[in-house]
Amino acid sequence: MSLQYQFPEDFWWGSATSATQIEGAANEGGKGKNIWDHWFEIEPNRFFDHVGPQETSDFYHRYQEDIQLMKKIGHNTHRLSISWSRLIPSGRGEVNPEAVEFYQHVIDDMLANDIDPFVNLYHFDMPIALQNEGGWESRDVVDAYVAYAKEAFRLFGNRVRKWFTFNEPIVPVENGYLYDAHYPNVVDAKRAVQVAYHTAIASAKAIAAFREMNIDQGKIGIILNLTPSYPRSSDPSDLRASRIADLFFNRSFLDPSVLGAYPQELINIIRENELLPQVQEGDGELLRSNTVDILGVNYYQPRRVKAKEYVPNPYSPFMPEWYFDHYQMPGRKMNIYRGWEIYEKGIYDILMNLKENYGNIESFISENGMGVQGEHRFQEKGEIQDDYRIDFIREHLKWVHQAIQEGSHVKGYHMWSFMDNWSWSNAYKNRYGFVSVDVETQERTLKKSAHWFQKVSEQNGF
Ligand code: BG6
Repeated sequence: MSLQYQFPEDFWWGSATSATQIEGAANEGGKGKNIWDHWFEIEPNRFFDHVGPQETSDFYHRYQEDIQLMKKIGHNTHRLSISWSRLIPSGRGEVNPEAVEFYQHVIDDMLANDIDPFVNLYHFDMPIALQNEGGWESRDVVDAYVAYAKEAFRLFGNRVRKWFTFNEPIVPVENGYLYDAHYPNVVDAKRAVQVAYHTAIASAKAIAAFREMNIDQGKIGIILNLTPSYPRSSDPSDLRASRIADLFFNRSFLDPSVLGAYPQELINIIRENELLPQVQEGDGELLRSNTVDILGVNYYQPRRVKAKEYVPNPYSPFMPEWYFDHYQMPGRKMNIYRGWEIYEKGIYDILMNLKENYGNIESFISENGMGVQGEHRFQEKGEIQDDYRIDFIREHLKWVHQAIQEGSHVKGYHMWSFMDNWSWSNAYKNRYGFVSVDVETQERTLKKSAHWFQKVSEQNGF
């Protein structure tokens, strides 16, 4: 059969999840507390419907059933994360044997079902003991992270072939240190810059350790949420505003991770505003010589940018938004169930940018998907009829296909997410899964999109 959109033979079809969002069992199996457990304890009202991370989607107990579902819907790969506070409950020191056993079983079960596990080491979940020492503001915590990474490579490196140091490292910077959306709810750009810098150093150090340990045929990378920045017009002030937004939110991690250095213009802005972080001798060389092998790209929506319309008060604390404003593009397409713009071509623009400006680094789409509030209303004949999600994925895949035709080195597509899961302070508000989860009973049901995706992965196209 000839398909209009045929993907390369070894294309990776799958989905992504993260430990805190699906495992549950937050107080079981010897797990230590992380910032999410702690924040929920002290401020449950910051969480949608007051639902915290204790149970989430109970993958800890149901992983076998879930892996069978992954297999059923045609996954040949899946990205999961290890919970640092499950593996090393205090963040540093003793390893938890129950966690080792759990992750070993999960990884082995995936392999036994021909699902290649891609393992991410950090998805927003700092152990609380280390947060209390200063979290990413502390260089000692960077070393604790590297020790944790080495432990994970040692334990699972003989079976895991794709490793990732961080998922969306800019998110804890923005949400935890600029916009008061995540714990520790700091609003301070200088501290935010230090957190961002230490995260990049932690990633480079983990990559160095990985290479020293000579992990068998393995590759290591990072997963970034790349949000292409589009200027309102070709007016130089709009172009500049858009370029600066891109520097702050994309290139602040993309450049050090792939090219091994920060963009000079970003350094200049940081310096002008007296926000430079503390660095150590040898850091420049560390970043230069430990760039990633592979890049995961999370893409949900574009950023629409225009020039600032008023001069910000110089006495107000620094914010990246001193340099640009957002605007809503007239006539834009929307995911009305989440309030995010849908712009499918953005995924192609990212891949072409990687091809042209980042050495065509090997990449894959590590998250792309559609959150829907109140999705149960689309339930019919015992199944969620999520045709909107099928359209969303299909239209993005068309642009991925186009990028491949034009020489992009993109190797796969992971939908966010395998199943409905607990999403940080939004808890179960927005549903993303191929598999719907009844939070009361933990019953799993495939959505219509799961059947569609099964066919796409089996045919390697559509
Ligand atoms: C992604 C994160 O950026 O957004 C996920 O990597 C998260 O962890 C997803 O679940 C969706 O977030 P929300 O706020 O729509 O539930």
